[in-house]
Amino acid sequence: MADSQAVTKAVIPAAGLGTRFVPATKAMPKEMLPIIDRPTIQLVVEEAAAAGLTDVLLITGREKTAIVDHFDRNIELEEILEAKGDLAGLDSIRASSLLASMHYVRQGQPLGLGHAVLCAADHVGDAPFAVLLGDDFIDVRDALLPRMLEVRRRYGGSIIALMEVEPEEVSAYGVATIKPTDSDDVVAITDLVEKPAVGDAPSNWIVVGRYVCDPAIFDVLRRTGPGKGGEIQLTDALRTLARTDRGPGDGGGVHGVLFRGRRYDTGNKLEYLKTVIQFACDRPDVAPEFVPWLRGYLASLDPDATG
Ligand code: UTP
Repeated sequence: MADSQAVTKAVIPAAGLGTRFVPATKAMPKEMLPIIDRPTIQLVVEEAAAAGLTDVLLITGREKTAIVDHFDRNIELEEILEAKGDLAGLDSIRASSLLASMHYVRQGQPLGLGHAVLCAADHVGDAPFAVLLGDDFIDVRDALLPRMLEVRRRYGGSIIALMEVEPEEVSAYGVATIKPTDSDDVVAITDLVEKPAVGDAPSNWIVVGRYVCDPAIFDVLRRTGPGKGGEIQLTDALRTLARTDRGPGDGGGVHGVLFRGRRYDTGNKLEYLKTVIQFACDRPDVAPEFVPWLRGYLASLDPDATG
């Protein structure tokens, strides 16, 4: 079914406690951890803007003021950089405030991702919207969100992103039961389960942090009680939409885009470190010095290595 409602709004939940990153997250949001010199949350907002989303609502909470400040102007710093003639620096600090029209709402208590999304109901209204988790991002070269928006236009309902993992990894994620469609990279979702035990998972396709939601999700979230971990789970609400008899005309139906590109999960220490190293090896301003240093360093750890 064709969908005439354009998606212009992105909701970025960033109110979680970041317990996997303590003590760094005691007084600082994990979404502000830098990937070299840009905070993760800026890369997420850049991803939304690159997909044509012009209105960004950040769900924030306690200890998250730094995020709000980051997307605002810093006139004092701008004046200092201007006086020094540092035009590149000046552009870089202005860039974050020019990406999109930024809005904020506070989630009083981090009751779960589903609850965070429900906090966006008034701002979003009755239109489909994208959700991008604030602590992971997709490589801008791999354009996942634009593909998801295309799939929403074709099928209506809600769209999730799926990545394939090894069978023993499924229990950390939401996992989908999938049915093929006539597009190689699109599946119909018939069921979803949050963090199943290895062996109980319906597939190896896990839900990753990008969604295009039909506004029907808000009513479902209002009726969704706490699930795994005592949190109100977005996966549980999407499961309801995938399993009801509703069609796309009344907000039901969930499709998945099978994504095989680059995703960086910066919410846990190991993946965060890998992300920083990959970006450093790719950045023209640091790679020429960093890569030879890294090679030498690795060789010094393993004297038997030849290369
Ligand atoms: P996570 O579960 O990865 O975030 O949620 P967390 O709870 O902060 O992480 P740990 O497990 O304690 O380390 C994914 C995204 O959803 C947001 C988080 O900020 C993160 O960007 N979130 C999560 C909320 O906004 N509110 C919540 O109640 C839970």
